[in-house]
Amino acid sequence: MKYNNIQIQKENSITTITINRPSKLNALNKETIQELHDAFKDLDKDKNIKAIILTGSGEKAFVAGADISEFANFSVKEGGKLAAKGQKLLFDFVEKLSTPVIAAVNGFALGGGLELAMSCHFRVASDNARMGLPEVSLGVIPGYGGTQRLPQLVGKGRAMEMIMTAGMIDAEKALNCGLVNYVVPQEELLDFCIKLASKISNNSPVAISHAIKAVNAGFKHDSNGYDAEIKAFGECFGTADFEEGTTAFLEKRKADFPGK
Ligand code: COA
Repeated sequence: MKYNNIQIQKENSITTITINRPSKLNALNKETIQELHDAFKDLDKDKNIKAIILTGSGEKAFVAGADISEFANFSVKEGGKLAAKGQKLLFDFVEKLSTPVIAAVNGFALGGGLELAMSCHFRVASDNARMGLPEVSLGVIPGYGGTQRLPQLVGKGRAMEMIMTAGMIDAEKALNCGLVNYVVPQEELLDFCIKLASKISNNSPVAISHAIKAVNAGFKHDSNGYDAEIKAFGECFGTADFEEGTTAFLEKRKADFPGK
């Protein structure tokens, strides 16, 4: 299959998907989300693929978020649809994939980028990586599962702080709070992930896919949270704060929120 925004590299039983929009710091536009869905679906069907590594092109970013230019003018209805469709096509889809997916976080993982990394089964970061959910600085909230998966990984208090401050944490802090499993020098990131994936590939794919299902089942009580997130995310699109936040980003200036 031919893709415009992602690259696929197969090496024995391990495949690396690289999100390739470096001029936009690999921001997730609609087409990239669809291509990622198609690629994950295809690879999951291939019995020879035992593990997938997901990374971003270049040395600066894994993914700097959802593509802000695509949704800055969305209505409440369109906002809700954006989150629901994205969650279904990509974020929930990756989390439930029967093939293990490792996120190789090679730089900025912000907003939808961190949400994508959190949808993967686990994460390895390069030492230059920085992670955060900056949505409230744009007048919106995380809409691709971030309000649910971040507390699962780092605990409620740390997640609340990260979401409310919209701040970034470095790789070392991400390691300390369990957001990533390892931090390695950037030039060693892919090799390190391939070694981990090789270890996985020696084990039973059927048992692993059942293990993924079982681990995910333990978090099912949160499924209403995802619906609540979609609703709240959509509602943000009707606010003056959202209009100001996204306009300020696109105009490269600091937002001046009208507020409550
Ligand atoms: N959506 C759309 N475009 C984005 C983007 C996003 N999420 N993140 C970065 N870009 C684009 C920039 O607009 C810029 O494009 P341009 O060269 O055509 O103007 C390009 O990527 C490079 O980004 P730039 O901001 O110039 O790089 P920087 O090194 O100064 O800053 C970041 C890096 C990651 C701090 C900054 O790009 C940023 O804050 N991005 C948005 C993060 C965000 O809020 N994500 C959540 C979205 S819900």
